[in-house]
Amino acid sequence: MKKIVIAIDGFSSCGKSTMAKGLAKKLGYIYIDSGAMYRAVTLFALQNGFFDGDKIKTDELKSKINDINISFKLNENGQPETFLNCENVEKKIRTMEVSSHVSPIAALPFVREILVIQQRKMGDKKGIVMDGRDIGTTVFPNAELKIYVTASAEIRAQRRYDELKVKGENNSFDEILKNVVERDHIDMTREVSPLRKADDAIELDNSNLTIDEQLEYLVKLVESKIA
Ligand code: DC
Repeated sequence: MKKIVIAIDGFSSCGKSTMAKGLAKKLGYIYIDSGAMYRAVTLFALQNGFFDGDKIKTDELKSKINDINISFKLNENGQPETFLNCENVEKKIRTMEVSSHVSPIAALPFVREILVIQQRKMGDKKGIVMDGRDIGTTVFPNAELKIYVTASAEIRAQRRYDELKVKGENNSFDEILKNVVERDHIDMTREVSPLRKADDAIELDNSNLTIDEQLEYLVKLVESKIA
């Protein structure tokens, strides 16, 4: 069957990855979480002392950028996990510390340049679902199916709060909401590849959709693209 490229973009914590993972599994496609790649670079910068408070030591990070090797491997449950230079960092990249440092890292042109090259390589055989902020606009402007996901900031903060709680991280809801709103602002207003809906993307507000309803809707869209 013909394989396509599916780009899923949207705000943080709007359920993109659940949607993209579910869709990839259903179609037998590869799933790539591009946000995990920006998070892995952020973790690398934190681990190597390339932050001075909130300020990034840009020259030092730039000089080491080619030492960063990011890959994905499926765990025993078939879920993709992120590896940074051979270390499984799936848990470490999801902490609030990384979340609150990732936006300025993702705004650096040299970081985006190198990650976009790697992302395009991952999609050169098609059969891929990638989620992020600039997948339909920059990484795969010719993707056959583009989805732009939205949901209110409060609903997204609640989802992140529930997610972190399950993982044993107890952050206040207000702190998480503040982080969500701040990241939205930085993601939409940065100079390089800001988050925006591609002209040919289909907008999907999933505030009131269940995961199953969402998946059913997406599978129908894919079928219509392949037919
Ligand atoms: O989707 P996420 O919250 O895990 O993404 C982490 C950060 O990376 C987020 O602040 C935006 C950034 N990002 C990006 O700039 N471009 C992408 N394609 C994916 C994520």
